[in-house]
Amino acid sequence: MDIFVEGKVRVDGQIIPPPDKSISHRSIMIGSIAEGTTVVRKFLFADDCLRTVDCFRKMGVEIEFKDQDTVIVKGKGLRGLKKPETELYAGNSGTTMRLLLGILAGQNFEAVLTGDESLSKRPMKRVVQPLRMMGAKIEGKDDGNYAPLIVRGGQLKGISYSLPVASAQVKSALLFAGLYADGETVIYEKPKTRDHTEIMLKHFGANVVMGDGFVKITPAEKLSASQITVPGDISSAAFFMVAAAINEGSQLLIRDVGINPTRTGIIDILKQMGCDIKIMDERIWGGEKVADILIKGGRLRGITIEREIVPRLIDEIPIIAVACTFAEGQSVVKDAKELRVKESDRIKAIVYNLRNLGAEVEELEDGFVITGGKPLKPAELDSFNDHRIAMAMAVAAISIDGRSKIKNADCVAISFPNFFQMLKSVCKQI
Ligand code: S3P
Repeated sequence: MDIFVEGKVRVDGQIIPPPDKSISHRSIMIGSIAEGTTVVRKFLFADDCLRTVDCFRKMGVEIEFKDQDTVIVKGKGLRGLKKPETELYAGNSGTTMRLLLGILAGQNFEAVLTGDESLSKRPMKRVVQPLRMMGAKIEGKDDGNYAPLIVRGGQLKGISYSLPVASAQVKSALLFAGLYADGETVIYEKPKTRDHTEIMLKHFGANVVMGDGFVKITPAEKLSASQITVPGDISSAAFFMVAAAINEGSQLLIRDVGINPTRTGIIDILKQMGCDIKIMDERIWGGEKVADILIKGGRLRGITIEREIVPRLIDEIPIIAVACTFAEGQSVVKDAKELRVKESDRIKAIVYNLRNLGAEVEELEDGFVITGGKPLKPAELDSFNDHRIAMAMAVAAISIDGRSKIKNADCVAISFPNFFQMLKSVCKQI
Protein backbone atom coordinates (compact mmCIF):
# COMPACT_ATOMS: atom_id res chain seq x y z
CA MET A 1 0.00 0.00 0.00
CA ASP A 2 1.24 3.49 -0.87
CA ILE A 3 0.80 6.33 1.63
CA PHE A 4 0.70 10.08 1.06
CA VAL A 5 2.31 12.27 3.72
CA GLU A 6 1.71 15.99 3.99
CA GLY A 7 4.14 18.54 5.47
CA LYS A 8 5.10 20.79 7.03
CA VAL A 9 4.29 20.30 10.69
CA ARG A 10 5.18 20.96 14.28
CA VAL A 11 5.30 17.85 16.51
CA ASP A 12 3.52 18.31 19.83
CA GLY A 13 2.06 16.24 22.65
CA GLN A 14 2.96 12.93 24.20
CA ILE A 15 3.20 9.30 23.08
CA ILE A 16 4.05 5.88 24.44
CA PRO A 17 6.02 4.04 21.76
CA PRO A 18 5.26 0.38 20.97
CA PRO A 19 6.94 -2.25 23.15
CA ASP A 20 10.52 -3.26 22.43
CA LYS A 21 10.83 -5.75 19.57
CA SER A 22 14.08 -7.38 20.74
CA ILE A 23 12.76 -7.91 24.27
CA SER A 24 9.37 -9.18 23.05
CA HIS A 25 11.04 -11.89 20.91
CA ARG A 26 13.20 -12.97 23.82
CA SER A 27 10.26 -13.13 26.25
CA ILE A 28 8.56 -15.76 24.07
CA MET A 29 11.74 -17.74 23.48
CA ILE A 30 12.92 -17.78 27.09
CA GLY A 31 9.38 -18.20 28.47
CA SER A 32 8.94 -21.25 26.20
CA ILE A 33 12.02 -23.07 27.52
CA ALA A 34 11.43 -22.11 31.16
CA GLU A 35 9.39 -24.17 33.61
CA GLY A 36 6.05 -22.67 34.60
CA THR A 37 3.88 -19.86 33.31
CA THR A 38 5.50 -16.62 32.16
CA VAL A 39 3.35 -13.51 31.93
CA VAL A 40 4.55 -10.91 29.42
CA ARG A 41 2.92 -7.49 29.80
CA LYS A 42 3.14 -4.88 27.03
CA PHE A 43 4.13 -7.48 24.42
CA LEU A 44 4.71 -6.12 20.91
CA PHE A 45 1.92 -7.47 18.70
CA ALA A 46 3.72 -6.78 15.43
CA ASP A 47 4.48 -9.10 12.49
CA ASP A 48 8.05 -9.97 13.51
CA CYS A 49 7.21 -11.00 17.08
CA LEU A 50 4.13 -12.91 15.93
CA ARG A 51 6.42 -15.05 13.76
CA THR A 52 8.33 -16.03 16.92
CA VAL A 53 5.03 -16.89 18.65
CA ASP A 54 3.99 -19.09 15.67
CA CYS A 55 7.31 -20.94 15.67
CA PHE A 56 7.06 -21.85 19.37
CA ARG A 57 3.40 -22.84 19.05
CA LYS A 58 4.51 -25.24 16.30
CA MET A 59 6.92 -26.75 18.82
CA GLY A 60 4.07 -27.47 21.24
CA VAL A 61 4.19 -24.38 23.47
CA GLU A 62 0.82 -23.02 24.59
CA ILE A 63 0.92 -19.25 24.09
CA GLU A 64 -2.22 -17.32 24.89
CA PHE A 65 -3.04 -13.67 24.12
CA LYS A 66 -4.92 -11.92 26.92
CA ASP A 67 -6.48 -8.47 27.04
CA GLN A 68 -4.90 -5.87 24.78
CA ASP A 69 -1.26 -6.34 25.59
CA THR A 70 -0.53 -9.48 27.59
CA VAL A 71 0.85 -12.85 26.56
CA ILE A 72 0.82 -15.96 28.72
CA VAL A 73 3.51 -18.51 27.86
CA LYS A 74 3.18 -21.99 29.35
CA GLY A 75 6.83 -23.01 29.36
CA LYS A 76 7.85 -26.55 28.43
CA GLY A 77 11.22 -26.55 30.16
CA LEU A 78 14.63 -26.76 28.51
CA ARG A 79 13.93 -30.21 26.99
CA GLY A 80 10.18 -30.07 26.46
CA LEU A 81 9.89 -28.59 22.94
CA LYS A 82 8.53 -31.04 20.36
CA LYS A 83 9.50 -31.59 16.75
CA PRO A 84 7.43 -29.24 14.56
CA GLU A 85 5.28 -31.00 11.97
CA THR A 86 5.79 -28.26 9.41
CA GLU A 87 8.57 -25.81 8.68
CA LEU A 88 9.18 -22.90 11.06
CA TYR A 89 8.49 -19.71 9.10
CA ALA A 90 10.35 -16.63 10.41
CA GLY A 91 8.84 -14.20 7.84
CA ASN A 92 10.92 -10.99 7.68
CA SER A 93 12.44 -11.49 11.12
CA GLY A 94 16.20 -11.95 11.37
CA THR A 95 15.93 -12.12 15.16
CA THR A 96 13.47 -15.03 14.98
CA MET A 97 15.65 -17.01 12.60
CA ARG A 98 19.06 -16.38 14.13
CA LEU A 99 18.06 -16.82 17.78
CA LEU A 100 15.96 -19.89 17.00
CA LEU A 101 18.99 -21.49 15.34
CA GLY A 102 20.71 -21.41 18.73
CA ILE A 103 17.76 -22.99 20.55
CA LEU A 104 17.18 -25.62 17.84
CA ALA A 105 20.86 -26.60 17.92
CA GLY A 106 20.28 -27.98 21.43
CA GLN A 107 17.11 -30.00 20.71
CA ASN A 108 16.98 -33.71 19.88
CA PHE A 109 14.91 -33.27 16.71
CA GLU A 110 15.21 -31.91 13.20
CA ALA A 111 13.53 -28.68 12.10
CA VAL A 112 13.44 -26.57 8.96
CA LEU A 113 13.61 -22.77 9.16
CA THR A 114 12.34 -20.58 6.32
CA GLY A 115 11.84 -16.85 5.76
CA ASP A 116 10.43 -14.35 3.27
CA GLU A 117 12.30 -13.11 0.21
CA SER A 118 14.33 -10.52 2.15
CA LEU A 119 15.25 -12.86 5.03
CA SER A 120 16.24 -15.63 2.57
CA LYS A 121 18.94 -13.29 1.25
CA ARG A 122 20.38 -12.36 4.66
CA PRO A 123 23.59 -14.07 5.83
CA MET A 124 23.18 -16.87 8.37
CA LYS A 125 26.73 -18.25 8.28
CA ARG A 126 27.71 -15.87 11.08
CA VAL A 127 25.46 -17.98 13.37
CA VAL A 128 25.76 -21.33 11.60
CA GLN A 129 29.56 -21.43 11.72
CA PRO A 130 30.03 -21.05 15.51
CA LEU A 131 27.04 -23.34 16.14
CA ARG A 132 28.78 -25.97 14.01
CA MET A 133 31.89 -25.50 16.16
CA MET A 134 29.66 -26.40 19.12
CA GLY A 135 28.57 -29.58 17.31
CA ALA A 136 25.31 -28.54 15.62
CA LYS A 137 24.41 -29.97 12.21
CA ILE A 138 22.98 -27.26 9.98
CA GLU A 139 22.49 -27.37 6.23
CA GLY A 140 21.33 -24.75 3.78
CA LYS A 141 22.11 -22.99 0.53
CA ASP A 142 25.71 -21.81 0.04
CA ASP A 143 27.02 -24.04 2.85
CA GLY A 144 24.36 -22.93 5.31
CA ASN A 145 24.55 -19.21 4.64
CA TYR A 146 20.97 -18.83 3.44
CA ALA A 147 17.52 -20.09 4.47
CA PRO A 148 15.84 -22.53 4.13
CA LEU A 149 18.00 -24.10 6.82
CA ILE A 150 17.73 -27.64 8.18
CA VAL A 151 18.87 -27.91 11.80
CA ARG A 152 19.62 -31.27 13.37
CA GLY A 153 20.02 -30.72 17.08
CA GLY A 154 22.23 -32.86 19.24
CA GLN A 155 24.76 -32.85 22.05
CA LEU A 156 26.74 -29.62 22.00
CA LYS A 157 30.01 -28.62 23.59
CA GLY A 158 30.80 -25.16 24.94
CA ILE A 159 33.21 -22.91 23.03
CA SER A 160 35.11 -19.65 23.47
CA TYR A 161 34.30 -17.37 20.58
CA SER A 162 35.15 -13.79 19.59
CA LEU A 163 32.38 -12.22 17.52
CA PRO A 164 33.80 -11.29 14.09
CA VAL A 165 30.79 -8.99 13.44
CA ALA A 166 29.15 -6.90 16.16
CA SER A 167 25.88 -8.80 16.33
CA ALA A 168 23.57 -9.35 19.29
CA GLN A 169 21.73 -11.95 17.25
CA VAL A 170 24.86 -14.09 16.90
CA LYS A 171 25.75 -13.60 20.58
CA SER A 172 22.21 -14.53 21.63
CA ALA A 173 22.11 -17.68 19.47
CA LEU A 174 25.35 -18.86 21.07
CA LEU A 175 24.06 -18.08 24.58
CA PHE A 176 20.95 -20.19 23.88
CA ALA A 177 23.07 -23.04 22.51
CA GLY A 178 25.31 -22.65 25.58
CA LEU A 179 22.31 -23.52 27.77
CA TYR A 180 22.44 -27.01 26.24
CA ALA A 181 26.21 -27.49 25.89
CA ASP A 182 28.72 -29.46 27.94
CA GLY A 183 30.94 -27.01 29.79
CA GLU A 184 30.96 -23.26 29.54
CA THR A 185 30.45 -21.04 26.52
CA VAL A 186 32.27 -17.70 26.51
CA ILE A 187 31.56 -15.03 23.92
CA TYR A 188 33.92 -12.09 23.54
CA GLU A 189 32.69 -8.93 21.85
CA LYS A 190 34.10 -5.54 21.04
CA PRO A 191 32.23 -3.27 20.66
CA LYS A 192 29.43 -4.34 22.97
CA THR A 193 26.06 -5.16 21.41
CA ARG A 194 22.61 -5.12 22.99
CA ASP A 195 22.50 -7.36 26.05
CA HIS A 196 18.78 -8.12 26.44
CA THR A 197 19.31 -11.89 26.14
CA GLU A 198 21.82 -12.07 28.99
CA ILE A 199 19.69 -9.77 31.18
CA MET A 200 16.56 -11.85 30.61
CA LEU A 201 18.31 -15.22 30.95
CA LYS A 202 19.63 -14.08 34.35
CA HIS A 203 16.15 -12.95 35.32
CA PHE A 204 14.93 -16.51 34.57
CA GLY A 205 17.70 -18.11 36.66
CA ALA A 206 20.34 -19.02 34.06
CA ASN A 207 24.04 -19.13 35.01
CA VAL A 208 25.20 -16.06 33.10
CA VAL A 209 28.19 -13.87 33.90
CA MET A 210 28.34 -10.50 32.16
CA GLY A 211 31.89 -9.15 32.17
CA ASP A 212 33.86 -6.38 30.53
CA GLY A 213 33.96 -7.43 26.87
CA PHE A 214 32.60 -10.94 27.39
CA VAL A 215 29.58 -12.96 28.48
CA LYS A 216 29.78 -16.48 29.85
CA ILE A 217 27.07 -19.09 30.25
CA THR A 218 27.11 -22.51 31.90
CA PRO A 219 24.16 -24.88 31.47
CA ALA A 220 21.46 -24.63 34.12
CA GLU A 221 19.27 -27.48 35.43
CA LYS A 222 16.28 -25.38 34.52
CA LEU A 223 15.01 -21.86 33.86
CA SER A 224 12.11 -20.65 36.02
CA ALA A 225 9.11 -18.79 34.61
CA SER A 226 8.93 -15.10 35.41
CA GLN A 227 7.04 -11.87 34.83
CA ILE A 228 8.18 -9.41 32.19
CA THR A 229 6.96 -5.92 31.41
CA VAL A 230 8.41 -4.88 28.07
CA PRO A 231 9.76 -1.30 27.91
CA GLY A 232 8.89 0.95 24.98
CA ASP A 233 11.17 0.44 21.97
CA ILE A 234 13.81 3.18 21.70
CA SER A 235 14.25 2.20 18.03
CA SER A 236 10.57 3.06 17.40
CA ALA A 237 10.72 6.14 19.66
CA ALA A 238 13.68 7.33 17.58
CA PHE A 239 11.40 8.28 14.65
CA PHE A 240 9.46 10.58 16.96
CA MET A 241 12.59 11.96 18.65
CA VAL A 242 13.90 13.08 15.27
CA ALA A 243 10.45 14.26 14.10
CA ALA A 244 10.37 16.64 17.08
CA ALA A 245 14.08 17.53 16.93
CA ILE A 246 14.10 18.73 13.29
CA ASN A 247 10.85 20.71 13.38
CA GLU A 248 11.35 24.02 15.15
CA GLY A 249 8.83 24.84 17.87
CA SER A 250 8.05 21.15 18.54
CA GLN A 251 7.82 19.74 22.05
CA LEU A 252 7.23 16.01 22.53
CA LEU A 253 7.15 13.81 25.61
CA ILE A 254 7.90 10.13 24.91
CA ARG A 255 7.01 7.94 27.88
CA ASP A 256 8.16 4.51 29.11
CA VAL A 257 11.12 4.22 26.74
CA GLY A 258 13.73 1.48 27.29
CA ILE A 259 17.11 3.16 27.81
CA ASN A 260 19.39 0.14 28.10
CA PRO A 261 22.85 1.73 27.54
CA THR A 262 23.54 -0.67 24.64
CA ARG A 263 20.66 1.04 22.76
CA THR A 264 20.98 4.75 23.58
CA GLY A 265 23.39 5.87 20.85
CA ILE A 266 20.54 7.89 19.30
CA ILE A 267 20.22 10.03 22.45
CA ASP A 268 23.98 10.67 22.60
CA ILE A 269 24.04 11.62 18.93
CA LEU A 270 21.04 13.95 19.09
CA LYS A 271 22.61 15.72 22.08
CA GLN A 272 25.87 16.13 20.16
CA MET A 273 23.90 17.54 17.22
CA GLY A 274 22.62 20.24 19.56
CA CYS A 275 19.16 18.84 20.32
CA ASP A 276 17.40 19.83 23.53
CA ILE A 277 16.63 16.38 24.96
CA LYS A 278 15.99 15.45 28.60
CA ILE A 279 15.89 12.01 30.21
CA MET A 280 13.47 11.97 33.14
CA ASP A 281 12.22 9.63 35.86
CA GLU A 282 14.63 6.72 35.30
CA ARG A 283 13.40 3.37 36.67
CA ILE A 284 13.97 -0.39 36.19
CA TRP A 285 11.52 -2.90 34.64
CA GLY A 286 12.69 -6.53 34.86
CA GLY A 287 16.36 -5.57 34.87
CA GLU A 288 15.93 -3.07 31.99
CA LYS A 289 16.26 0.72 32.44
CA VAL A 290 13.22 2.80 31.46
CA ALA A 291 12.67 6.58 31.35
CA ASP A 292 10.54 9.38 29.91
CA ILE A 293 12.17 11.56 27.26
CA LEU A 294 11.35 15.19 26.49
CA ILE A 295 12.51 16.64 23.15
CA LYS A 296 12.27 20.16 21.83
CA GLY A 297 12.70 21.10 18.18
CA GLY A 298 15.42 23.44 17.02
CA ARG A 299 18.50 23.75 14.86
CA LEU A 300 20.84 20.76 14.61
CA ARG A 301 24.44 20.57 13.42
CA GLY A 302 26.17 17.84 11.42
CA ILE A 303 27.97 14.95 13.10
CA THR A 304 30.40 12.08 12.47
CA ILE A 305 29.26 8.60 13.50
CA GLU A 306 31.84 5.83 13.45
CA ARG A 307 33.43 2.94 15.35
CA GLU A 308 32.10 1.66 18.67
CA ILE A 309 28.93 3.76 18.84
CA VAL A 310 27.61 2.11 15.65
CA PRO A 311 26.07 -1.04 17.28
CA ARG A 312 24.38 1.23 19.86
CA LEU A 313 22.38 2.91 17.09
CA ILE A 314 22.53 0.51 14.15
CA ASP A 315 18.74 0.33 13.67
CA GLU A 316 18.41 4.11 14.03
CA ILE A 317 20.74 5.02 11.15
CA PRO A 318 17.91 5.54 8.60
CA ILE A 319 16.26 8.12 10.87
CA ILE A 320 19.62 9.63 11.88
CA ALA A 321 20.26 10.14 8.15
CA VAL A 322 17.06 12.20 8.06
CA ALA A 323 18.25 14.26 11.05
CA CYS A 324 21.57 14.85 9.22
CA THR A 325 19.69 16.03 6.11
CA PHE A 326 17.98 18.75 8.16
CA ALA A 327 21.15 19.68 10.13
CA GLU A 328 23.58 22.41 9.18
CA GLY A 329 26.87 21.23 7.68
CA GLN A 330 28.36 17.88 6.84
CA SER A 331 27.58 14.57 8.51
CA VAL A 332 29.49 11.33 8.01
CA VAL A 333 28.34 7.81 8.89
CA LYS A 334 30.92 5.05 8.47
CA ASP A 335 31.82 1.62 9.91
CA ALA A 336 28.20 0.67 9.26
CA LYS A 337 28.58 -1.95 6.52
CA GLU A 338 26.04 -4.12 8.39
CA LEU A 339 23.38 -1.79 6.97
CA ARG A 340 23.87 -3.55 3.63
CA VAL A 341 22.43 -6.80 5.04
CA LYS A 342 19.49 -5.55 7.08
CA GLU A 343 15.83 -5.90 5.97
CA SER A 344 16.96 -4.01 2.84
CA ASP A 345 20.32 -2.60 1.74
CA ARG A 346 19.75 0.43 3.97
CA ILE A 347 22.68 2.45 2.61
CA LYS A 348 21.24 2.19 -0.89
CA ALA A 349 17.69 2.89 0.35
CA ILE A 350 18.77 5.97 2.34
CA VAL A 351 20.83 7.43 -0.51
CA TYR A 352 18.09 6.82 -3.11
CA ASN A 353 15.33 8.40 -1.04
CA LEU A 354 17.24 11.39 0.30
CA ARG A 355 18.47 12.24 -3.20
CA ASN A 356 14.84 12.13 -4.40
CA LEU A 357 14.06 14.76 -1.79
CA GLY A 358 16.87 16.95 -3.15
CA ALA A 359 19.48 16.22 -0.48
CA GLU A 360 23.20 16.12 -1.17
CA VAL A 361 24.32 12.59 -0.32
CA GLU A 362 27.41 10.60 -1.19
CA GLU A 363 27.30 6.82 -0.88
CA LEU A 364 30.18 5.04 0.89
CA GLU A 365 30.74 1.30 1.01
CA ASP A 366 30.13 1.35 4.78
CA GLY A 367 27.95 4.44 5.19
CA PHE A 368 27.31 7.85 3.61
CA VAL A 369 28.15 11.55 3.69
CA ILE A 370 25.32 14.08 3.86
CA THR A 371 25.68 17.81 3.38
CA GLY A 372 22.73 19.09 5.35
CA GLY A 373 20.62 22.20 5.21
CA LYS A 374 19.97 22.10 1.42
CA PRO A 375 16.50 23.06 0.12
CA LEU A 376 14.27 19.95 -0.02
CA LYS A 377 11.14 19.17 -2.03
CA PRO A 378 8.39 16.56 -1.66
CA ALA A 379 8.96 13.41 -3.71
CA GLU A 380 8.01 9.82 -4.45
CA LEU A 381 9.84 7.66 -1.90
CA ASP A 382 10.34 3.91 -1.72
CA SER A 383 10.28 1.82 1.46
CA PHE A 384 12.12 -1.03 -0.28
CA ASN A 385 9.71 -3.09 1.87
CA ASP A 386 11.77 -2.16 4.91
CA HIS A 387 9.82 -0.90 7.95
CA ARG A 388 12.55 1.44 9.20
CA ILE A 389 13.05 3.03 5.76
CA ALA A 390 9.28 3.65 5.45
CA MET A 391 9.13 5.33 8.88
CA ALA A 392 12.29 7.38 8.38
CA MET A 393 10.96 8.70 5.07
CA ALA A 394 7.59 9.55 6.63
CA VAL A 395 9.44 11.73 9.16
CA ALA A 396 11.36 13.44 6.34
CA ALA A 397 8.09 13.99 4.46
CA ILE A 398 6.25 15.68 7.39
CA SER A 399 9.19 18.08 7.67
CA ILE A 400 9.01 19.36 4.06
CA ASP A 401 6.33 21.64 2.59
CA GLY A 402 4.00 19.67 0.30
CA ARG A 403 2.87 16.10 -0.31
CA SER A 404 5.20 13.11 -0.64
CA LYS A 405 4.30 9.53 -1.49
CA ILE A 406 5.83 6.48 0.21
CA LYS A 407 5.61 3.27 -1.78
CA ASN A 408 4.76 0.03 0.09
CA ALA A 409 4.49 1.78 3.43
CA ASP A 410 2.43 -0.99 5.04
CA CYS A 411 5.69 -2.76 5.95
CA VAL A 412 5.67 -0.57 9.11
CA ALA A 413 3.59 -3.46 10.58
CA ILE A 414 6.85 -5.41 11.03
CA SER A 415 7.66 -3.41 14.17
CA PHE A 416 5.17 -0.54 14.54
CA PRO A 417 1.64 -1.36 13.27
CA ASN A 418 0.06 1.96 14.38
CA PHE A 419 2.96 4.17 13.29
CA PHE A 420 0.97 6.38 10.91
CA GLN A 421 -1.92 6.92 13.38
CA MET A 422 0.56 7.83 16.13
CA LEU A 423 2.45 10.18 13.82
CA LYS A 424 -0.79 11.88 12.79
CA SER A 425 -1.80 12.31 16.43
CA VAL A 426 1.23 14.53 17.20
CA CYS A 427 1.55 16.43 13.89
CA LYS A 428 0.14 19.96 13.88
CA GLN A 429 0.06 21.27 10.31
CA ILE A 430 1.68 24.73 10.01
C1 S3P B 1 18.69 -7.39 17.13
C2 S3P B 1 20.03 -7.16 16.89
C3 S3P B 1 20.51 -6.31 15.79
C4 S3P B 1 19.42 -5.39 15.28
C5 S3P B 1 18.14 -6.13 15.04
C6 S3P B 1 17.63 -6.75 16.32
C7 S3P B 1 18.31 -8.28 18.24
O1 S3P B 1 20.94 -7.11 14.72
O2 S3P B 1 19.86 -4.76 14.11
O3 S3P B 1 17.15 -5.27 14.53
O4 S3P B 1 17.11 -8.30 18.62
O5 S3P B 1 19.19 -8.98 18.74
P1 S3P B 1 22.40 -7.78 14.64
O6 S3P B 1 22.50 -8.73 15.76
O7 S3P B 1 22.47 -8.44 13.32
O8 S3P B 1 23.35 -6.66 14.73
